[in-house]
Amino acid sequence: MTTQLMDLEAQLETLRQEAQDEIATAGTLERLEELRVSYLGKKGQLSKILGSMGKLDPADRPRIGALANEVKEAIQTNLEEKRTALQAAQIQARLQSETLDVTMPGVYRPQGRVHPLNGMIDRALDIFAGLGYTVATGPEMETDYYNFEALNTPPDHPARDMQDTFYLPDGNLLRTHTSSVQIRYMEKHKPPVRIVAPGRVYRRDTVDATHAAVFHQIELLAVGEGLTFNDLKGTIKEFLRQMFGEVPVRFRASYFPFTEPSAEVDVQWKGKWLEVLGCGMVDPNVFKAVGYDPEKYTGFAAGFGVERFAMVLHQIDDIRRVYGSDLRFLKQF
Ligand code: DAH
Repeated sequence: MTTQLMDLEAQLETLRQEAQDEIATAGTLERLEELRVSYLGKKGQLSKILGSMGKLDPADRPRIGALANEVKEAIQTNLEEKRTALQAAQIQARLQSETLDVTMPGVYRPQGRVHPLNGMIDRALDIFAGLGYTVATGPEMETDYYNFEALNTPPDHPARDMQDTFYLPDGNLLRTHTSSVQIRYMEKHKPPVRIVAPGRVYRRDTVDATHAAVFHQIELLAVGEGLTFNDLKGTIKEFLRQMFGEVPVRFRASYFPFTEPSAEVDVQWKGKWLEVLGCGMVDPNVFKAVGYDPEKYTGFAAGFGVERFAMVLHQIDDIRRVYGSDLRFLKQF
Protein backbone atom coordinates (compact mmCIF):
# COMPACT_ATOMS: atom_id res chain seq x y z
CA MET A 1 0.00 0.00 0.00
CA THR A 2 1.44 3.36 -0.99
CA THR A 3 1.62 6.23 1.44
CA GLN A 4 -0.52 8.24 -0.93
CA LEU A 5 -3.19 5.61 -0.74
CA MET A 6 -3.10 5.50 3.02
CA ASP A 7 -3.11 9.25 3.12
CA LEU A 8 -6.24 9.50 0.94
CA GLU A 9 -7.99 6.81 2.90
CA ALA A 10 -7.26 8.67 6.10
CA GLN A 11 -8.50 11.93 4.60
CA LEU A 12 -11.74 10.31 3.50
CA GLU A 13 -12.31 8.75 6.89
CA THR A 14 -11.64 12.09 8.58
CA LEU A 15 -14.05 13.76 6.19
CA ARG A 16 -16.72 11.21 6.97
CA GLN A 17 -16.26 11.75 10.71
CA GLU A 18 -16.13 15.54 10.54
CA ALA A 19 -19.21 15.69 8.33
CA GLN A 20 -21.11 13.43 10.64
CA ASP A 21 -20.24 15.59 13.67
CA GLU A 22 -20.98 18.88 12.00
CA ILE A 23 -24.26 17.67 10.52
CA ALA A 24 -25.30 16.36 13.92
CA THR A 25 -24.89 19.84 15.46
CA ALA A 26 -26.53 21.80 12.61
CA GLY A 27 -29.45 23.71 14.05
CA THR A 28 -31.14 25.09 10.95
CA LEU A 29 -31.92 24.03 7.41
CA GLU A 30 -29.79 26.92 6.15
CA ARG A 31 -26.80 25.64 8.09
CA LEU A 32 -27.44 22.15 6.73
CA GLU A 33 -27.37 23.47 3.17
CA GLU A 34 -24.06 25.20 3.87
CA LEU A 35 -22.64 21.90 5.06
CA ARG A 36 -23.92 20.05 2.01
CA VAL A 37 -22.21 22.55 -0.27
CA SER A 38 -19.05 22.47 1.81
CA TYR A 39 -18.77 18.65 1.73
CA LEU A 40 -20.47 17.48 -1.43
CA GLY A 41 -20.56 20.60 -3.62
CA LYS A 42 -18.65 20.83 -6.89
CA LYS A 43 -15.84 22.66 -5.16
CA GLY A 44 -16.47 20.90 -1.88
CA GLN A 45 -14.11 18.94 0.24
CA LEU A 46 -14.93 15.54 -1.25
CA SER A 47 -14.26 16.81 -4.77
CA LYS A 48 -10.95 18.18 -3.62
CA ILE A 49 -9.87 14.88 -2.19
CA LEU A 50 -10.96 13.03 -5.29
CA GLY A 51 -9.07 15.57 -7.38
CA SER A 52 -5.85 14.23 -6.05
CA MET A 53 -6.72 10.67 -7.10
CA GLY A 54 -4.85 11.31 -10.33
CA LYS A 55 -1.60 10.87 -8.49
CA LEU A 56 -2.57 7.38 -7.39
CA ASP A 57 -1.33 4.15 -8.75
CA PRO A 58 -4.09 3.13 -11.19
CA ALA A 59 -4.37 -0.19 -9.39
CA ASP A 60 -5.36 1.59 -6.19
CA ARG A 61 -7.97 3.83 -7.77
CA PRO A 62 -10.94 1.47 -7.62
CA ARG A 63 -10.42 1.01 -3.92
CA ILE A 64 -10.33 4.73 -3.21
CA GLY A 65 -13.21 5.28 -5.61
CA ALA A 66 -15.30 2.76 -3.72
CA LEU A 67 -14.42 4.33 -0.39
CA ALA A 68 -15.17 7.82 -1.74
CA ASN A 69 -18.62 6.62 -2.83
CA GLU A 70 -19.21 5.10 0.54
CA VAL A 71 -18.26 8.33 2.29
CA LYS A 72 -20.41 10.36 -0.08
CA GLU A 73 -23.42 8.15 0.55
CA ALA A 74 -22.86 8.27 4.28
CA ILE A 75 -22.75 12.08 4.23
CA GLN A 76 -25.86 12.15 2.03
CA THR A 77 -27.67 9.90 4.42
CA ASN A 78 -26.62 12.07 7.37
CA LEU A 79 -27.82 15.17 5.55
CA GLU A 80 -31.12 13.56 4.63
CA GLU A 81 -31.85 12.35 8.12
CA LYS A 82 -30.95 15.68 9.62
CA ARG A 83 -33.13 17.53 7.10
CA THR A 84 -36.10 15.37 7.97
CA ALA A 85 -35.52 15.95 11.68
CA LEU A 86 -35.13 19.72 11.28
CA GLN A 87 -38.27 19.98 9.12
CA ALA A 88 -40.27 18.02 11.65
CA ALA A 89 -39.00 20.28 14.42
CA GLN A 90 -39.92 23.33 12.36
CA ILE A 91 -43.47 22.08 11.85
CA GLN A 92 -43.71 21.22 15.52
CA ALA A 93 -42.58 24.73 16.48
CA ARG A 94 -45.11 26.29 14.14
CA LEU A 95 -47.93 24.18 15.46
CA GLN A 96 -46.90 25.17 18.94
CA SER A 97 -46.83 28.90 18.21
CA GLU A 98 -50.00 28.92 16.11
CA THR A 99 -52.14 26.90 18.43
CA LEU A 100 -55.84 27.81 18.20
CA ASP A 101 -58.00 27.33 21.22
CA VAL A 102 -61.20 26.21 19.58
CA THR A 103 -62.98 26.27 22.92
CA MET A 104 -62.39 30.03 23.33
CA PRO A 105 -65.64 32.03 23.17
CA GLY A 106 -66.07 33.91 19.87
CA VAL A 107 -66.44 37.65 19.44
CA TYR A 108 -70.14 38.44 19.83
CA ARG A 109 -71.56 40.55 17.06
CA PRO A 110 -75.19 41.39 17.67
CA GLN A 111 -77.22 41.06 14.51
CA GLY A 112 -79.21 44.10 13.57
CA ARG A 113 -82.78 43.67 12.49
CA VAL A 114 -85.60 45.61 10.94
CA HIS A 115 -87.60 47.72 13.39
CA PRO A 116 -91.10 46.27 13.96
CA LEU A 117 -92.73 49.37 12.47
CA ASN A 118 -90.57 49.27 9.35
CA GLY A 119 -91.21 45.55 9.14
CA MET A 120 -94.92 46.29 9.24
CA ILE A 121 -94.64 48.92 6.50
CA ASP A 122 -92.53 46.57 4.34
CA ARG A 123 -95.09 43.79 4.69
CA ALA A 124 -98.01 46.03 3.81
CA LEU A 125 -96.24 47.55 0.80
CA ASP A 126 -95.27 44.07 -0.38
CA ILE A 127 -98.87 42.96 -0.31
CA PHE A 128 -100.03 46.01 -2.23
CA ALA A 129 -97.19 45.66 -4.71
CA GLY A 130 -98.57 42.18 -5.36
CA LEU A 131 -101.96 43.76 -6.06
CA GLY A 132 -100.45 46.13 -8.62
CA TYR A 133 -99.86 49.25 -6.54
CA THR A 134 -96.79 51.47 -6.63
CA VAL A 135 -95.40 53.57 -3.77
CA ALA A 136 -95.85 57.35 -3.64
CA THR A 137 -94.72 59.83 -1.01
CA GLY A 138 -95.33 63.44 -0.03
CA PRO A 139 -93.96 66.04 2.38
CA GLU A 140 -94.57 65.96 6.12
CA MET A 141 -94.90 69.72 6.26
CA GLU A 142 -98.06 70.52 4.36
CA THR A 143 -100.28 73.40 3.43
CA ASP A 144 -103.84 73.62 4.65
CA TYR A 145 -104.90 73.04 1.08
CA TYR A 146 -103.38 69.56 0.66
CA ASN A 147 -104.14 68.36 4.16
CA PHE A 148 -107.74 69.61 4.33
CA GLU A 149 -109.19 71.89 1.68
CA ALA A 150 -108.60 69.74 -1.41
CA LEU A 151 -109.79 66.74 0.60
CA ASN A 152 -113.23 68.29 0.82
CA THR A 153 -112.58 69.71 4.27
CA PRO A 154 -113.08 73.52 4.19
CA PRO A 155 -111.94 75.69 7.14
CA ASP A 156 -115.26 75.65 8.99
CA HIS A 157 -115.75 71.94 8.50
CA PRO A 158 -116.47 70.10 11.77
CA ALA A 159 -114.29 67.18 10.64
CA ARG A 160 -111.24 69.33 11.35
CA ASP A 161 -111.92 68.73 15.01
CA MET A 162 -111.35 65.02 14.45
CA GLN A 163 -107.68 65.69 13.96
CA ASP A 164 -105.94 68.12 16.24
CA THR A 165 -103.39 69.78 14.08
CA PHE A 166 -99.91 71.14 14.73
CA TYR A 167 -99.82 74.52 12.99
CA LEU A 168 -96.53 76.15 12.14
CA PRO A 169 -95.88 79.90 12.60
CA ASP A 170 -95.81 80.41 8.80
CA GLY A 171 -99.37 79.06 8.45
CA ASN A 172 -98.26 75.65 7.20
CA LEU A 173 -98.94 72.55 9.25
CA LEU A 174 -97.61 69.08 9.96
CA ARG A 175 -99.78 66.71 7.97
CA THR A 176 -102.35 64.93 10.12
CA HIS A 177 -102.74 62.07 7.67
CA THR A 178 -101.21 60.65 4.52
CA SER A 179 -104.40 61.50 2.59
CA SER A 180 -102.60 64.66 1.42
CA VAL A 181 -100.49 62.43 -0.84
CA GLN A 182 -103.66 61.52 -2.76
CA ILE A 183 -104.02 65.13 -3.89
CA ARG A 184 -100.35 65.64 -4.67
CA TYR A 185 -100.26 62.45 -6.73
CA MET A 186 -103.47 63.08 -8.67
CA GLU A 187 -102.38 66.63 -9.51
CA LYS A 188 -99.38 65.18 -11.33
CA HIS A 189 -100.79 61.96 -12.82
CA LYS A 190 -103.76 61.07 -14.98
CA PRO A 191 -105.91 58.03 -14.15
CA PRO A 192 -105.69 55.11 -13.80
CA VAL A 193 -104.14 55.46 -10.33
CA ARG A 194 -102.97 52.64 -8.05
CA ILE A 195 -100.81 53.96 -5.23
CA VAL A 196 -99.89 53.30 -1.63
CA ALA A 197 -98.30 56.11 0.37
CA PRO A 198 -96.54 55.30 3.62
CA GLY A 199 -95.37 58.07 5.91
CA ARG A 200 -95.16 59.87 9.20
CA VAL A 201 -98.10 61.94 10.44
CA TYR A 202 -98.60 64.29 13.38
CA ARG A 203 -101.43 64.98 15.81
CA ARG A 204 -101.75 67.11 18.88
CA ASP A 205 -102.86 64.16 20.93
CA THR A 206 -102.02 63.58 24.54
CA VAL A 207 -99.55 60.73 24.50
CA ASP A 208 -100.80 57.59 26.23
CA ALA A 209 -100.77 53.83 25.67
CA THR A 210 -102.71 54.10 22.41
CA HIS A 211 -101.89 57.63 21.20
CA ALA A 212 -98.69 59.19 19.95
CA ALA A 213 -98.09 62.70 18.63
CA VAL A 214 -96.10 61.24 15.77
CA PHE A 215 -97.11 58.00 14.12
CA HIS A 216 -97.26 56.30 10.74
CA GLN A 217 -99.97 55.72 8.21
CA ILE A 218 -100.30 54.00 4.89
CA GLU A 219 -102.68 55.52 2.39
CA LEU A 220 -104.25 53.66 -0.48
CA LEU A 221 -105.77 55.21 -3.60
CA ALA A 222 -107.22 53.62 -6.73
CA VAL A 223 -108.88 55.64 -9.48
CA GLY A 224 -110.22 54.43 -12.78
CA GLU A 225 -113.32 53.99 -14.85
CA GLY A 226 -115.99 51.82 -13.28
CA LEU A 227 -114.40 51.14 -9.91
CA THR A 228 -117.05 50.26 -7.34
CA PHE A 229 -117.44 49.72 -3.63
CA ASN A 230 -117.06 46.01 -4.38
CA ASP A 231 -113.57 46.61 -5.70
CA LEU A 232 -112.78 48.48 -2.50
CA LYS A 233 -114.11 45.63 -0.37
CA GLY A 234 -112.28 42.99 -2.33
CA THR A 235 -109.00 44.88 -2.14
CA ILE A 236 -109.26 45.56 1.59
CA LYS A 237 -110.32 42.00 2.36
CA GLU A 238 -107.45 40.56 0.37
CA PHE A 239 -105.00 42.87 2.11
CA LEU A 240 -106.33 41.94 5.56
CA ARG A 241 -106.31 38.25 4.66
CA GLN A 242 -102.63 38.43 3.75
CA MET A 243 -101.90 40.46 6.88
CA PHE A 244 -103.93 38.63 9.52
CA GLY A 245 -104.81 35.33 7.88
CA GLU A 246 -108.37 34.04 7.61
CA VAL A 247 -110.07 36.22 10.21
CA PRO A 248 -113.61 37.66 10.22
CA VAL A 249 -113.74 41.18 8.71
CA ARG A 250 -116.61 43.65 8.93
CA PHE A 251 -117.32 46.97 7.24
CA ARG A 252 -119.15 49.58 9.33
CA ALA A 253 -120.70 52.70 7.80
CA SER A 254 -118.72 55.75 8.87
CA TYR A 255 -117.87 59.26 7.82
CA PHE A 256 -114.84 60.93 6.26
CA PRO A 257 -115.06 64.22 4.35
CA PHE A 258 -113.04 62.89 1.40
CA THR A 259 -115.03 59.69 0.82
CA GLU A 260 -118.70 58.97 0.20
CA PRO A 261 -119.80 56.42 1.21
CA SER A 262 -117.23 55.79 3.93
CA ALA A 263 -116.57 52.80 6.12
CA GLU A 264 -114.47 51.70 9.01
CA VAL A 265 -113.16 48.16 8.96
CA ASP A 266 -112.80 45.85 11.94
CA VAL A 267 -111.10 42.48 12.18
CA GLN A 268 -111.88 39.87 14.77
CA TRP A 269 -108.60 39.17 16.47
CA LYS A 270 -108.06 37.10 19.60
CA GLY A 271 -111.79 37.12 20.24
CA LYS A 272 -112.32 40.88 19.91
CA TRP A 273 -113.46 43.17 17.10
CA LEU A 274 -110.69 45.70 16.51
CA GLU A 275 -110.91 48.68 14.19
CA VAL A 276 -107.98 48.66 11.78
CA LEU A 277 -108.69 51.14 9.00
CA GLY A 278 -110.89 53.74 7.37
CA CYS A 279 -111.90 53.74 3.72
CA GLY A 280 -114.48 54.77 1.17
CA MET A 281 -115.28 55.81 -2.38
CA VAL A 282 -113.45 59.01 -3.34
CA ASP A 283 -115.79 62.02 -2.99
CA PRO A 284 -116.48 63.76 -6.34
CA ASN A 285 -115.35 67.04 -4.77
CA VAL A 286 -111.86 65.57 -4.34
CA PHE A 287 -111.75 64.71 -8.04
CA LYS A 288 -112.87 68.23 -8.90
CA ALA A 289 -110.03 69.67 -6.83
CA VAL A 290 -107.44 67.80 -8.89
CA GLY A 291 -109.16 68.28 -12.25
CA TYR A 292 -110.43 64.71 -12.70
CA ASP A 293 -113.88 64.38 -14.25
CA PRO A 294 -116.15 62.87 -11.55
CA GLU A 295 -118.60 61.79 -14.24
CA LYS A 296 -115.95 59.67 -15.85
CA TYR A 297 -113.88 58.39 -12.96
CA THR A 298 -114.56 56.69 -9.70
CA GLY A 299 -112.12 55.55 -7.11
CA PHE A 300 -111.59 54.24 -3.64
CA ALA A 301 -109.24 55.17 -0.86
CA ALA A 302 -108.19 53.82 2.50
CA GLY A 303 -105.90 54.80 5.31
CA PHE A 304 -104.55 52.91 8.26
CA GLY A 305 -102.24 53.40 11.18
CA VAL A 306 -99.09 51.31 11.09
CA GLU A 307 -98.67 51.35 14.88
CA ARG A 308 -102.25 50.22 15.28
CA PHE A 309 -101.62 47.28 12.96
CA ALA A 310 -98.42 46.35 14.74
CA MET A 311 -100.15 46.54 18.12
CA VAL A 312 -103.02 44.34 17.02
CA LEU A 313 -100.84 41.84 15.18
CA HIS A 314 -98.16 41.51 17.85
CA GLN A 315 -100.43 42.21 20.83
CA ILE A 316 -98.37 45.17 21.99
CA ASP A 317 -100.10 46.82 24.92
CA ASP A 318 -98.42 50.24 24.84
CA ILE A 319 -97.61 52.23 21.68
CA ARG A 320 -94.71 53.94 23.47
CA ARG A 321 -92.76 50.70 23.48
CA VAL A 322 -92.24 50.78 19.73
CA TYR A 323 -90.56 54.18 19.99
CA GLY A 324 -88.26 53.15 22.82
CA SER A 325 -84.84 51.65 22.31
CA ASP A 326 -85.26 48.69 24.62
CA LEU A 327 -83.65 45.91 22.61
CA ARG A 328 -85.25 43.26 24.81
CA PHE A 329 -88.53 44.45 23.37
CA LEU A 330 -87.46 45.22 19.80
CA LYS A 331 -85.62 41.90 19.41
CA GLN A 332 -88.85 39.96 19.60
CA PHE A 333 -90.03 40.88 16.13
N1 DAH B 1 -107.17 59.97 6.73
C1 DAH B 1 -107.96 59.20 7.66
C2 DAH B 1 -107.43 59.36 9.05
O1 DAH B 1 -106.31 59.73 9.21
C3 DAH B 1 -107.95 57.77 7.28
C4 DAH B 1 -108.65 57.52 6.01
C5 DAH B 1 -110.01 57.24 6.01
C6 DAH B 1 -108.00 57.58 4.81
C7 DAH B 1 -110.69 57.01 4.86
C8 DAH B 1 -108.67 57.34 3.63
C9 DAH B 1 -110.04 57.06 3.67
O2 DAH B 1 -108.08 57.37 2.46
O3 DAH B 1 -110.71 56.81 2.51
O4 DAH B 1 -108.13 59.08 9.98
